[in-house]
Amino acid sequence: MPKIFLSIVTLVLVFPSNLFVYGAPTTDPTEVNALKVIRNSLYDPMNKLKNWNKGDPCTTNWTGIYCQMESNDNYLHITEIQLFKMNLSGTLSPQLSSLSHLKILDFMWNNISGPIPKEIGSITSLKLILLNGNQLSSYLPAEIGNLPSLNRLQIDQNQISGPIPTSFMNLTSVKHLHMNNNSLSGQIPAELSKLPRLLHLLVDNNNLSGHLPQEFSEMPSIKILQFDNNNFGGTSIPPSYANISTLLKLSVRNCSLEGSVPDMTQIPQLGFIDLSWNQLTGPLPTHKFSTNITTIDVSHNKLNGTIPDFSGLPNLQLLALEDNFFEGSVPPNIWDNTTYSANKSLVLDFQNNSLTNVPANFDPPANVSVLLSGNPLCSNTTLSTPVGSCQFQSITKASGSEQTSVNCQPCPTDRNYEYNPSSTLTCFCAVPLGIGMRLKSPGISDFRPYKTAFEKDLTGLLNLYVYQLYIENYIWETGPRLNMQLKLFPSNTSIFSVNEIVRVRRMLAGWEITLLDIFGPYELLNFTLGSYANDLPKSSGSGLSTGAIAGIAIGAVAVATAVSILATMFILKRRWRYTTMSKRSSLSRFSIKIDGVRCFTFEEMAKATKNFNESSIVGQGGYGKVYKGVLDDGTVVAVKRAHEESLQGSKEFCTEIELLSRLHHRNLVSLVGYCDELDEQMLVYEFMPNGTLRDHLSVKCKEPLNFNTRLHIALGSSKGILYLHTEANPPIFHRDIKASNILLDSKFVPKVADFGLSRLAPLPDIEGTLPGHVSTVVKGTPGYLDPEYFLTHKLTDKSDVYSLGVVFLELLTGMRPIAHGKNIVREVTLKCQSGNTLEIVDSRMESYPIECIKRFLSLALRCCQDETDLRPSMSEVVRELEVIWRMMPDTYSLTTADSSDVDPNLKMTHSTSSASSVMGNTFLSSNEMSSENTESGLHNVTPR
Ligand SMILES: *[C@@H]1O[C@H](CO)[C@@H](O)[C@H](O)[C@H]1NC(C)=O
Ligand SMILES: *[C@@H]1O[C@H](CO)[C@@H](O)[C@H](O)[C@H]1NC(C)=O
Ligand SMILES: *[C@@H]1O[C@H](CO)[C@@H](O)[C@H](O)[C@H]1NC(C)=O
Ligand SMILES: *[C@@H]1O[C@H](CO)[C@@H](O)[C@H](O)[C@H]1NC(C)=O
Ligand SMILES: *[C@@H]1O[C@H](CO)[C@@H](O)[C@H](O)[C@H]1NC(C)=O
Repeated sequence: MPKIFLSIVTLVLVFPSNLFVYGAPTTDPTEVNALKVIRNSLYDPMNKLKNWNKGDPCTTNWTGIYCQMESNDNYLHITEIQLFKMNLSGTLSPQLSSLSHLKILDFMWNNISGPIPKEIGSITSLKLILLNGNQLSSYLPAEIGNLPSLNRLQIDQNQISGPIPTSFMNLTSVKHLHMNNNSLSGQIPAELSKLPRLLHLLVDNNNLSGHLPQEFSEMPSIKILQFDNNNFGGTSIPPSYANISTLLKLSVRNCSLEGSVPDMTQIPQLGFIDLSWNQLTGPLPTHKFSTNITTIDVSHNKLNGTIPDFSGLPNLQLLALEDNFFEGSVPPNIWDNTTYSANKSLVLDFQNNSLTNVPANFDPPANVSVLLSGNPLCSNTTLSTPVGSCQFQSITKASGSEQTSVNCQPCPTDRNYEYNPSSTLTCFCAVPLGIGMRLKSPGISDFRPYKTAFEKDLTGLLNLYVYQLYIENYIWETGPRLNMQLKLFPSNTSIFSVNEIVRVRRMLAGWEITLLDIFGPYELLNFTLGSYANDLPKSSGSGLSTGAIAGIAIGAVAVATAVSILATMFILKRRWRYTTMSKRSSLSRFSIKIDGVRCFTFEEMAKATKNFNESSIVGQGGYGKVYKGVLDDGTVVAVKRAHEESLQGSKEFCTEIELLSRLHHRNLVSLVGYCDELDEQMLVYEFMPNGTLRDHLSVKCKEPLNFNTRLHIALGSSKGILYLHTEANPPIFHRDIKASNILLDSKFVPKVADFGLSRLAPLPDIEGTLPGHVSTVVKGTPGYLDPEYFLTHKLTDKSDVYSLGVVFLELLTGMRPIAHGKNIVREVTLKCQSGNTLEIVDSRMESYPIECIKRFLSLALRCCQDETDLRPSMSEVVRELEVIWRMMPDTYSLTTADSSDVDPNLKMTHSTSSASSVMGNTFLSSNEMSSENTESGLHNVTPR
């Protein structure tokens, strides 16, 4: 199935080229010969260029070749080479210079290496040089400066080194210089300020040094200046930048800048300013920013003085001032009379400053978060605020679910038909175009308020109806960049015509459209016919039910719904106010039920499990065998049947049942009943159709979990365990947390199993075999065992934290806790110490937000510290996971990364590897959790 599908995709990429044939002309022979030489320097493993040796390039439609009849020489001339994402490697031949009529040179997202040939500097007709996403190295040829018509130079995400040539000052037509994520070094030439048309200068993530040229203030049309992650060792931001009246975005994150913050508040349309992670000193200027501003990030500097008035900024999404020396009071009413909602929120991060008080009647409205921890005001006893949770957060639920399901017949699966979820014309099956698009330098921190504007903008530009576009998902990546998977559906027909596909592709891949300024430049990541949704592999005895496959996709939505229902229960009127903040559990979170547990007869149990037939066995644990059973009323259950060693006195058994029956939590497997007769003891639990977490992490699992689901599983499991530690009376330490004790229901909600059994059953001893008797020696499962417990035999809540940390590492890496004699904790620690953090991440999660991964990893490793005291408490674990969950797409990260795990060598690898993992796959299956889902994760935030 996938193969057939891929070939459809290939067909589309190879579309007819010569749209301008008059009479029977042929291609200029010089150019034909040049193409053959170019072809020979490329390696083409997928044989995409197989028709490049038959006939004439222009008239027999060679892949990616576009021609025009231009001059009077009666020859066709090659005007475009578009070999976007074709798995090509090898080098670019200097013979390219023979294509003297070339306008578009597109080799984006291949694996081409070697230098950019200086000879392309002689192709004066060139308009677009699109070489981003390759392995190009060596220097930027100065000859590129000779291209008078060049409009766009995209060489980002390569390994190009050396300086930016001063000759680029002669690129009089250039609007876009995208050179980010390379190894460029030296001083940025001040001469670039002469470029009359330059709009976007992206040189972030290089090794540039020297200083920011003050001459840039004279740039006539610049809109975006992005310099992040370079090293301008101790120089300052030129005060003249306050005069760049056309500027919309300035980003100089982590550039080793010193000095003061220039007063940019008078720039009329400034929308985004990021000066974070430098050593800037002095106060923040007090004048008003433009009302267009969405993001002000000056966090992690050495700024002091009081926080100026930031009111009257209705579009503000993020004001990050954390980790500075601001003193005095939190300013009042930054939110003013702006209305916030689930789709428009504001984050004010003032953490780790020297603020001493809040204004009287401080009462942030819903959807405005004010983070204050790490300020002296938090330890002010008269405010009775527990240190560490000094924050105001309230997030309301997005109203209504977007799609109400209509009863449509399933679409035929053979031709990638699907319904357009954004259309009101339901039940119309069509084949969409799948488009991967990334906003390289957006002027926003939160996409939600701009989603509609984006839909209107893009469809308007492409001359389509708004309902033809469906934004399948979007995810914030390092940068921040916004990676989106879009689907375009045909209107009133089930498949786009070839002309229409060619038209849309030309507009996108030829940059014939320009999005609204707020979205910044876009890049194209893929363009396919059909989308992966119908291409999910069919289950084939992989150990997962067919339902599991649908479950992964549908589960996302269902989980979201479930989460939000649960959240609504205790978020009702949860507007965090100062006065109630310290009241611990002022709301009773969980209903406590004593009865409701059924007592079954042995006969009933035997009938449910077909007389304890071998075929009904679904597992085996310390307590005994586990059978799948069906009760009389059709309920599917798991029956745990104690083996002889586990049998208890009836009275003790009863006590335990009563204890277990009182535990009710969404993330604990619930007890349905028990059976205690005829020398048999059994516990009956709800059945978890998706099996254990271990099954899903195993290499044999054909539908690996995406990061979103993994994080959700980590959060859920932690909440279940926190409940056992804090709400059970007496508290229950699980003692045997492991991936095979975390079960997944039909919606992939994690449920911790086997809690409390530590009291009923002998656990496997350290050798991993079942002991013949109840032993008081160290128990647990090898690989998950708290090393301190092993040494001291002292069991604490932190032993569960350790085991859970191991489960987190499994979620991140897919590894087993112990494999081939290697211990997961040691392996991961070693890799992190050597700076290869991302190498250990499970490559089957195809894309994920790097910053979330790093934070999750750092949490996991803290849980696995040898020393008990260094491990976080269970409630800290939950809190941190909630923070990470909120950092997931759509909610801007509050802090980008712990300074402790910022490895300067990683920044390049980060973006490159995240991009290549996205690029490496036409079908981004790891992002399939919808944005709604992530949003509803917000509702579950419960600072304790
Ligand atoms: C090349 O494309 C043109 C225009 O779409 C088409 O008419 C022609 O048949 C194609 N030629 C070949 C050999 O495929
Ligand atoms: C820019 O072009 C002019 C004339 O075309 C030339 O003299 C000059 O050397 C060029 N500048 C650089 C830095 O190459
Ligand atoms: C700035 O705001 C004004 C008024 O709301 C709007 O017309 C303009 O398009 C905005 N500019 C940008 C770059 O978003
Ligand atoms: C702010 O810091 C600077 C040094 O960085 C110091 O000279 C100045 O006095 C400080 N101002 C305040 C108000 O503390
Ligand atoms: C808020 O309301 C006041 C008075 O109602 C008005 O003067 C002010 O301009 C408003 N501010 C904003 C940002 O709308």
